[in-house]
Amino acid sequence: MTQPRKVRKAVFPVAGLGTRFLPATKAIPKEMLTVVDKPVIQYVVDEARAAGIEHFIFVTGRNKAVIEDHFDIQVELYDTLRNRGKLDELGNLQALQPKPGQTSFTRQQEPLGLGHAVWCARELVGDEPFALLLPDMVMQHEKSCLSGMVDLYQKVGGNVVSVEEVPDEDTHRYGIVGVGEDISDDGFKINAMVEKPMPGTAPSNYFINGRYILQPEVFSILETQESGAGNEIQITDAMLKLAEKQDFSAYRFRGNTFDCGSKEGFIRANVSFALERADIRVKVEDDLRRMLGAL
Ligand code: G1P
Repeated sequence: MTQPRKVRKAVFPVAGLGTRFLPATKAIPKEMLTVVDKPVIQYVVDEARAAGIEHFIFVTGRNKAVIEDHFDIQVELYDTLRNRGKLDELGNLQALQPKPGQTSFTRQQEPLGLGHAVWCARELVGDEPFALLLPDMVMQHEKSCLSGMVDLYQKVGGNVVSVEEVPDEDTHRYGIVGVGEDISDDGFKINAMVEKPMPGTAPSNYFINGRYILQPEVFSILETQESGAGNEIQITDAMLKLAEKQDFSAYRFRGNTFDCGSKEGFIRANVSFALERADIRVKVEDDLRRMLGAL
């Protein structure tokens, strides 16, 4: 096998309305809701950066301009922090700051589905493999989920999606893959893919957890992809077609995944990340014990 081409670019579909979080998301994009003290989207961008991504492509929509502002330099704020000697705070902001030219923004003009959102990034991705990260899913693990996927991709090439197990009763909520031969402890070949299978029909319990490494040929499939589950253009359906010509491998992610598109997932993410923070851990732990003890 020739050495797979490097994954340099990542796509973040951030056009969703966030109706599950109203009224919080009436004026603020759901991707800007904070887990402890960072917006959700920042966790996902940091994960991509840790995996060696050099260019961050955001597929936005109306009312999402604040995401672009978040990844820009705030000259007045930086000056104020410098003048007040708040150099730690300034350093922390600068460490998260993409370099000039590392971000691109395009719009999904109509909410036609995840597959359509990805297709909107085709000109910005061009003819090279790319990562796709769904910002609702926030991962917590020493090694970033995408880093593990890139390691597997460098061994096997093709397309890689990250998976985890779910209980039978939840398979209809996700994209589910079929399990083929084992590649290593970290992954297996995928032999089926279905978006939101009817209860009782899922090919396995492995769900796609919102992280993908895809080859650019997926764009020409998306160009004519018809609507699928939920009457939306689905990335899973386009991947299924691409799998007729190219390999798909699954990466078994073994960290914590929080679905921050749901209220429970969002609260769990806040608690779990707070407990990881040296500055607030003890206090939060004490408070949680007290609250639970009081139930
Ligand atoms: C999307 C994907 C699905 C995947 C899920 C992970 O679904 O279509 O395959 O399992 O994200 O969160 P959505 O959550 O947009 O319905």
